[in-house]
Amino acid sequence: MKSIKEIDITNKRVFIRVDFNVPMDDLQNIQNDSRIKAVLPALRYALDNNAKLIIASHLGRPKGKFIPEFSLSPVAKRLGRLLQTDIKMAPSCIGPEVKALVSSMKAGDIVLLENLRFHPEEQKNDDAFAKELASLCDVYINNAFAVSHRVNASVVAITKYAPVCAAGFLLLKETGYFKKIMAEPQRPLVAILGGAKVSDKLMALDNMSDHVDKFVVGGAMANTFLKSAGCSVGKSKVEDDLVEAAGLIIKNAVERGIKFYLPVDAVVARHLEPKAATKIVPIHEIPENWMALDIGPATSLLFTEVLYDAKTIIWNGPMGVFEIDSFSRGTIAMAHSVANSYALTIVGGGDTDVALHKEGVTDRITYISTGGGAFLTMLEGKELPAVTALAKTEK
Ligand code: 3PG
Repeated sequence: MKSIKEIDITNKRVFIRVDFNVPMDDLQNIQNDSRIKAVLPALRYALDNNAKLIIASHLGRPKGKFIPEFSLSPVAKRLGRLLQTDIKMAPSCIGPEVKALVSSMKAGDIVLLENLRFHPEEQKNDDAFAKELASLCDVYINNAFAVSHRVNASVVAITKYAPVCAAGFLLLKETGYFKKIMAEPQRPLVAILGGAKVSDKLMALDNMSDHVDKFVVGGAMANTFLKSAGCSVGKSKVEDDLVEAAGLIIKNAVERGIKFYLPVDAVVARHLEPKAATKIVPIHEIPENWMALDIGPATSLLFTEVLYDAKTIIWNGPMGVFEIDSFSRGTIAMAHSVANSYALTIVGGGDTDVALHKEGVTDRITYISTGGGAFLTMLEGKELPAVTALAKTEK
């Protein structure tokens, strides 16, 4: 991909697609602005080069309708504060008013377009919509790694219509970093995978088997693996249709000399509720009507020990139901173990990122990806459609 640095942007209308899909509370307060901060270098670079900046993003899943709670206005305010400049908030992302606003822009001005997903055409990768977006600019920059796994108009179809296309620093950094690690990892390379479902991580496990030395598996997905190994997991969430596949994954990994670590104890409860009574049990002693909702302290110790000799660690997905305090300790313990390790550490995925921020250990992680689904797509070894579309514009 061509970099923003390789093209002339001075005095040009530069359309930068970013991912400002940030978590908000009920009062529209931004809870974590990492995704905004992550694109500041590209925005500052464009401003320093006297571009006219048209910034576009989606926020949430408003399903093609205007819903005020999904407006990007709070993001415009935060961005203005971070860049210490005025940001003009456009009423939409297309239409005559937006065109007029853009044509009145001077070098150094910034317009933030309203949520792209207020239009159903965005997620349909609609050509006419993409053409309208492209008509706003002289140069298109994709700096939205976190949405580059989606076939959406503002990251895929738009590349056919924008006069010049290139990648922003964040997109280049995220994709480049990951590829380099996968091609020449410092070994041992350990992949820590968690989260609710094996089905979500099946392809990642398969692809990562070609690269890793050790797998560490926690979260509800571990239950399906435990069941395949003959462990009775009580009422715990299990994907019964994948028990056989899980068994095969372990078998194949072991045959290839990969160490495969599963929980040895669990925090269990009868119900998935914040106030439910909990206890810690060895993994083979989960009572019939109880369910495993977090890894236990022995597992945290074991997993920590597994990381001692790691030179590279990739982590995606929580170790338990992290959003409920009583089931968050395993993920918190992993956040500290990963941060304390001497390895090069890469972490991606919403909940995992939240755990690192909550524990204040982000500055001891080598690289935290801004992507959830996009990061997982890379773990699966697949191309990102937006990157493919951008690369095609070079030919
Ligand atoms: C994300 O948060 O993973 C991206 O912004 C993509 O959002 P989506 O899952 O709603 O497409």
